[in-house]
Amino acid sequence: MSECPYLPLSNVHSDNMDGDHQDQPMVNLWLGRTVHRSYVSRRAVCSQPAFVALILVSIFIFLFFQLVNVVPHKPVPPTFTWSSNATRNLNVYIRPGLLTALLQPSNLCSQTPFMLFVVPSAINNTKERGTIRATWGQWAKSNTLRTSSKEDQIFQKIIGVKGGLANIAELKTQLPLTSKLVFLLGKARGKTPITKTIQAESQTYGDIIVEDFVDSYTNLTLKSVFMLKWVQNNCPGVKFIMKVDDDIFVNVPNLHHSLLNQTTKAPLLTGNLICGARPIHDQWSKWYTPKYMFREGKYPNYLSGTGYVMSADLVKPLLRMALATPYFHLEDVFLTGICARKIGVNPKDNFGFSYQPRAVSPCVYKEVIMGHGVIPSEMIKLWNMLNQPKTLAKCHPIIKSKLRRHYPTKCS
Ligand SMILES: *[C@@H]1O[C@H](CO)[C@@H](O)[C@H](O)[C@H]1NC(C)=O
Ligand SMILES: *[C@@H]1O[C@H](CO)[C@@H](O)[C@H](O)[C@H]1NC(C)=O
Ligand SMILES: *[C@@H]1O[C@H](CO)[C@@H](O)[C@H](O)[C@H]1NC(C)=O
Ligand SMILES: *[C@@H]1O[C@H](CO)[C@@H](O)[C@H](O)[C@H]1NC(C)=O
Repeated sequence: MSECPYLPLSNVHSDNMDGDHQDQPMVNLWLGRTVHRSYVSRRAVCSQPAFVALILVSIFIFLFFQLVNVVPHKPVPPTFTWSSNATRNLNVYIRPGLLTALLQPSNLCSQTPFMLFVVPSAINNTKERGTIRATWGQWAKSNTLRTSSKEDQIFQKIIGVKGGLANIAELKTQLPLTSKLVFLLGKARGKTPITKTIQAESQTYGDIIVEDFVDSYTNLTLKSVFMLKWVQNNCPGVKFIMKVDDDIFVNVPNLHHSLLNQTTKAPLLTGNLICGARPIHDQWSKWYTPKYMFREGKYPNYLSGTGYVMSADLVKPLLRMALATPYFHLEDVFLTGICARKIGVNPKDNFGFSYQPRAVSPCVYKEVIMGHGVIPSEMIKLWNMLNQPKTLAKCHPIIKSKLRRHYPTKCS
């Protein structure tokens, strides 16, 4: 969802710090032109025949009535936020003791996966789901890692196996690298909470959860908290959970590798860290926050909701804290910022994650964990190229600062 919505301007345009100065002259220029124009037309009226004046007056009257007509139609700001009379007590929606899933795969976690990918998806995003299944979802749903890659060389080194790929594949199945992927949806408004399309999709692929709440942008926080509830009740033993939007390409082998390389046993909450972001009080913004929902001047440090990873030991405490915290509609700020802070967990930045779109290049995606804003056609392109060893072999190493340009600062 978020391309860095809540970052202060100076952070977003770090290479253009004088954005404020650019606005100023534009306003002045406009005012100046207005004054100048009316002066010219007054002179014209004095020196031309009367009918010119008449025409000008009628144009003026015409414009005046146009304006009067326009004013009452001034649009009201869209409401991206929680309605102020709806309860913010999450227990009312999540109903922690009850079974609330209207549709769910059976035995998704029966073999205790190492990793569970949960992709919140809008009901109508059928194409996005299909593309993920056909591309990086294949990594996420299988036990095998990509072949002829850095990973294989590492396995060969560690295990001392050279030669047949079949051998490596066999060894890999013994490693705790299995993962699962599931799409998380809400219900549709109206008489049929689960559409025929979703029913069919679920029957074909068995990877859809529909929880009992209305699927909408404002309800995304509910979706993420339902994710915690579902994982807690249905996926015991899983090691890591990644929440990832449906416009993200994930390099699953790189992610596995990064997680296996974790040296500490402390709870892990990682992704693209955002620090010092301020609430937006502009009612037209997609990220509008009314003051009654968040009073502090700055959000706590949080991870971009485009994709973040948590270790499974955080599911229970985060869920408990979410249920005890008033609803806040920006799910990433809510879970990885507000609730994480309350349970004393610091989200950590990982350079492999980025909320900004990256170049759609196999040489870039070969090095990173995920990138944002990837449309289906680009996903397919990336997937195909990442599976061509010959293409990858031509890649030159990319320096770190080119992989992701922004770096979180002011993270006290
Ligand atoms: C809540 O507010 C909405 C508009 O914001 C209004 O349409 C609705 O009737 C209100 N509901 C109650 C129960 O007051
Ligand atoms: C999804 O698509 C259906 C049929 O095309 C449409 O009626 C419905 O309004 C759409 N839902 C949303 C949330 O856009
Ligand atoms: C959010 O979900 C709740 C529970 O289903 C529903 O009552 C409410 O109307 C939804 N809000 C929006 C804005 O869709
Ligand atoms: C693994 O961890 C070590 C030490 O923390 C670090 O230097 C190395 O870059 C990591 N490797 C990968 C692939 O993340």
